[in-house]
Amino acid sequence: MGSSSFIRRLPKAELHLHLEGTVTPETLVELSARHSGPPLELAQARALYEYTDFTGFLMAFKAVSEHLRTPEDYEFVTWRMLERLARQGVVHAEVYVSVGVIYYWRRCEFEPLFLGMERARARAEAELGISLYWIFDAVRHFGPEEAARVFRKAAELRPQFPSIVGIGIGGDERRVGAEPFRELYAEARDAGLRLTAHAGETVGPESIWGAINIGAERLGHALSAVHDPELMDLLAERQIAVEICVTSNLRTGCCPRVEDHPLRRYFDSGLMVTLNSDDPALFQSDLEDEYCLARKGFGFTEEQLRELAANSIEASFLQAERKVTLLRRIESLE
Ligand code: ADE
Ligand code: ZN
Repeated sequence: MGSSSFIRRLPKAELHLHLEGTVTPETLVELSARHSGPPLELAQARALYEYTDFTGFLMAFKAVSEHLRTPEDYEFVTWRMLERLARQGVVHAEVYVSVGVIYYWRRCEFEPLFLGMERARARAEAELGISLYWIFDAVRHFGPEEAARVFRKAAELRPQFPSIVGIGIGGDERRVGAEPFRELYAEARDAGLRLTAHAGETVGPESIWGAINIGAERLGHALSAVHDPELMDLLAERQIAVEICVTSNLRTGCCPRVEDHPLRRYFDSGLMVTLNSDDPALFQSDLEDEYCLARKGFGFTEEQLRELAANSIEASFLQAERKVTLLRRIESLE
């Protein structure tokens, strides 16, 4: 068996994936044919995905998100995402949905869209055997008041929809750190929600300290931790999971060269490293590619890839019982 077959068969969790970032230009064209108004041409759709730096990337993400309109659109893109994940051997995904973008730019109700997403989630669980938890993501540079609407919606819907597992902040950390969200994070935790945060993607380790200090249990990217030995020690000691997204960092320019990426150093320093794809349609990659890159670009052995897959299960917000089942499947894979 070749290594790529091993990677595909390895039961894996994807913990850092944005629903909107899984939508391809081809899917946008299909969606637009169902909407009123002039249909989107493929070349026009592809142009939305072009960017040259991190700011441009955030604008591209917003432009793609704006083309998702109806509950049926959200159901369709959720289903497509889950089909692709299942094909890569992903058994569980924790998926960010940018509720902050929907509220701030689109000014529309989220529940009807969420019902569409939930229909696809339930169908995929029954038909493909893949589980999915939602993480409601706020856009940090829209500020705490907008984030409050996102987190409170998660808290309000959670009793009825246990698939809503947590909250997070994405967006531009060069403009806003984690501190303004401290009280909101405490409130979300009290409502039973798990806490994540993008941190240390475009700025230094102080942003990661900030996220940890407001209670983030998992860190998105955490690229700049490598510059702070004290922080590295803390991450290793407390086993705070880092959601590493190598291709994302290369494409957005947050990490200019693959040789500079700290993935290997994090793993060798005993951090709880997980591999993730972030926005696969904007980066032309997927989770399987990330594992292949770890093997080819960073020299991870099959046993180490198995450890990364086990980390993804351990660092997930799944119930202990399901974690044990999945960990056993990883261990016994030949
Ligand atoms: N939203 C979607 N992907 C993101 C990323 N990598 N960083 C910040 N916000 C995002
Ligand atoms: Zn992200």
